[in-house]
Amino acid sequence: MITFDEVTKRYADGTVAVDRLTLEAPTGEITVFVGPSGCGKTTSLRMINRMIDPSEGRVLLDGVDVTTIDPPTLRRGIGYVIQQAGLFPHRKIVDNVATVPYLLGWDKKKARDRAMELLERVGLDLKLAGRYPFQLSGGQQQRVGVARALAADPPVLLMDEPFSAVDPVVRTSLQEELLRLQAELNKTIVFVTHDIDEAVKLGDRVAVLRVGGHLAQLDDPATLLSRPADDFVREFLGRDRGIRRLSFVSGHEVGLRADLTVPVSTETAGLRDTAEPWLAVLDEDGRPLGWARTDDLPASGTLAGVPLAPYGTFDRGRDSLRAALDATLLSPSGCAIAVDDAGRAEGVVTREALSEALDRVAGGAHA
Ligand SMILES: Nc1ncnc2c1ncn2[C@@H]1O[C@H](COP(=O)(O)OP(=O)(O)OP(=O)(O)O)[C@@H](O)[C@H]1O
Ligand SMILES: [Mg+2]
Repeated sequence: MITFDEVTKRYADGTVAVDRLTLEAPTGEITVFVGPSGCGKTTSLRMINRMIDPSEGRVLLDGVDVTTIDPPTLRRGIGYVIQQAGLFPHRKIVDNVATVPYLLGWDKKKARDRAMELLERVGLDLKLAGRYPFQLSGGQQQRVGVARALAADPPVLLMDEPFSAVDPVVRTSLQEELLRLQAELNKTIVFVTHDIDEAVKLGDRVAVLRVGGHLAQLDDPATLLSRPADDFVREFLGRDRGIRRLSFVSGHEVGLRADLTVPVSTETAGLRDTAEPWLAVLDEDGRPLGWARTDDLPASGTLAGVPLAPYGTFDRGRDSLRAALDATLLSPSGCAIAVDDAGRAEGVVTREALSEALDRVAGGAHA
């Protein structure tokens, strides 16, 4: 655990970058520092690995004041990833990743084997190992930066806007990669960003800082989005925070209708009088095939010969209420088909069911 205890940083020119910051970054979790430019995020992060020392207060690592540990020893247990990766330009990728193992005196083969293992872990083609940094894309360099920080298996990882120099698509895949890695590795991560979407996606807890280095709010993402502490946080979270909050509500919150699904072998004759405008047609295994409009059904035959409209699905076990809403918006029927892990339909989400779920989860979110 990393603890900030009343930490203030005053630079030589009198700038107060961080002002009596008190918070904890729990072991095995991702704590995100987010806030506008100049609010003291980088300064706070660097006080953890002693690139900067506090003017007042203490930063503790598992209860030990970091200023009592000499910087090289301290940094052996702390990986550090920065924007644009900061790779050594004259060293091959594999040797960049093996930097810390070499420093620790590992033999060359062991260090390189470890580097190759990590390159694979962060999703890089091993063919890139022999290249130099300038021969890689920005996203690939960023992955190398993460691999390098993990090389000596440090329990703590500090990440300062590591993904902000890459385009949105690469950025999304780097974020997902980090979450996947973290599920395996359980590092104590402090992650700095000025992007609130990135903060709520990655953070177990999110600390919102305001200029002057004041902590405005520290909460889990769902609480932050539903109950911002003040106008500054509300403003910072942006106008669509109500919708974004739905990402943290389980798809199980929404009720399903089983009567709106029919097997493809069903005779159309019995379906033409139904009051429902659309029915979801399923194959023999229960997987969705598409939507049939009941007004257009022929008088005889089965559904097998009927033209079907495309459909939207969401996985109720894995996806959020936001995904369910999105699927209904994109479906021609205005309803979404809920499927299980195997892709089999569990039922249909109607606009009414969605509306009912939204009413229920909105409780307490009207801040
Ligand atoms: N060496 C320094 N001397 C004086 N002031 C400094 C120094 N380094 C940073 N500052 C000031 O401290 C404040 C916080 O800087 P810091 O780099 O921690 O902000 P940040 O939140 O990381 O910003 P950004 O999002 O732009 O990276 C800023 O006002 C900055 O100008
Ligand atoms: Mg910064």
